[in-house]
Amino acid sequence: MDLMKEFWAKAKSDVKRIALPEGEEERTIKASEIIKREGLAEVILLGNVEKIRDKARSLNVNIEGVEIIDPETAEKTTQYAQEFYELRKSKGITLEKAEKTVKDTMYFGTMMVKLGDADGLVSGAVHTTGDLLRPGLQVIKTAPGISTVSSFFIMLVPDSTYGNNGMFLFSDCAVNPNPTAEQLAAIAISTAETAKNLCNMEPKVAMLSFSTKGSADHELVEKVRKATEIAKELRPDLQIDGELQLDAAIVDKVAQQKAPGSTVAGQANVLIFPDLQAGNIGYKLVQRLAKAEAIGPVCQGFAKPINDLSRGCNVEDIVNVVAVTAVQAQATV
Ligand code: ACO
Repeated sequence: MDLMKEFWAKAKSDVKRIALPEGEEERTIKASEIIKREGLAEVILLGNVEKIRDKARSLNVNIEGVEIIDPETAEKTTQYAQEFYELRKSKGITLEKAEKTVKDTMYFGTMMVKLGDADGLVSGAVHTTGDLLRPGLQVIKTAPGISTVSSFFIMLVPDSTYGNNGMFLFSDCAVNPNPTAEQLAAIAISTAETAKNLCNMEPKVAMLSFSTKGSADHELVEKVRKATEIAKELRPDLQIDGELQLDAAIVDKVAQQKAPGSTVAGQANVLIFPDLQAGNIGYKLVQRLAKAEAIGPVCQGFAKPINDLSRGCNVEDIVNVVAVTAVQAQATV
């Protein structure tokens, strides 16, 4: 069974409520029909009810039974405004500003998740990554014991024997532009947990650099070395090693030369990039040149799941990200 089918099956086994703040958007409306029909989640479209119904009609899409909530007129808007004000008043927000803010579907949806009226949220067909992350960081915050929200991609490289027969987790490719050593360690630990809990992998985590085990000296390498030490100290139970060049991380022969004795080098299936430039470029290179399937970016570390879409996404992408978000929601206490 392919991985996405596994996510679909799991999502159906315990149906969760997922808010879609871009409810007036065409691809989102089409996706909601499929999600409902397949029983992947109970989706809630946010936006103007008439606009959404009219658009569905003109697209010939059946959204009967899909809940639609308009933040402009919703019963809960006042409660959400009050709660948002309480959460953010120390940052200088006024009640008046809070009332305006929660009428934005992105903030309304985030408040739904915060207060348990939805189990997760997916957006990004129209909004940028920052538009999704900011309300999430302000309102939902991190899960207990986690300091840094980050993201991962599941990379499925065809016809490859590297990693788990071509399957890897890459992180962080979408959230933290320039993580500190402490943040990089947190990203490595979160991704190892994701590998175990979401993807049934036995994680072997490589902290990537342009140096392997002291072959070069530079402050950028030093950051990766320090992050490796912190991660190992925090989680001695995990297999994490660094600093490693990409070839030493995944190619056994190179690992034997450059990092003999490492239990990770040559077998890594979780690749931690030193910053967002490397991570973002890295996943796109593998996606385009190796024709890998890239599932993500999926957020990790939030107290409750919210996930981003690419603005170039298609209907199938939205359906799949909703399924993954629903599975993450099942694991949320
Ligand atoms: N983990 C936990 N908390 C965080 C994190 C994090 N990674 N980053 C910021 N925060 C917290 C801050 O402490 C702050 O909390 P507070 O307001 O309660 O004090 C809050 O979040 C807002 O932080 P700011 O620093 O004010 O937020 P900023 O404006 O810098 O935005 C953001 C943060 C949105 C994550 C920003 O770093 C960003 O835009 N990242 C890159 C996103 C992006 O463009 N990705 C690439 C495209 S995606 C793709 O190609 C697949």
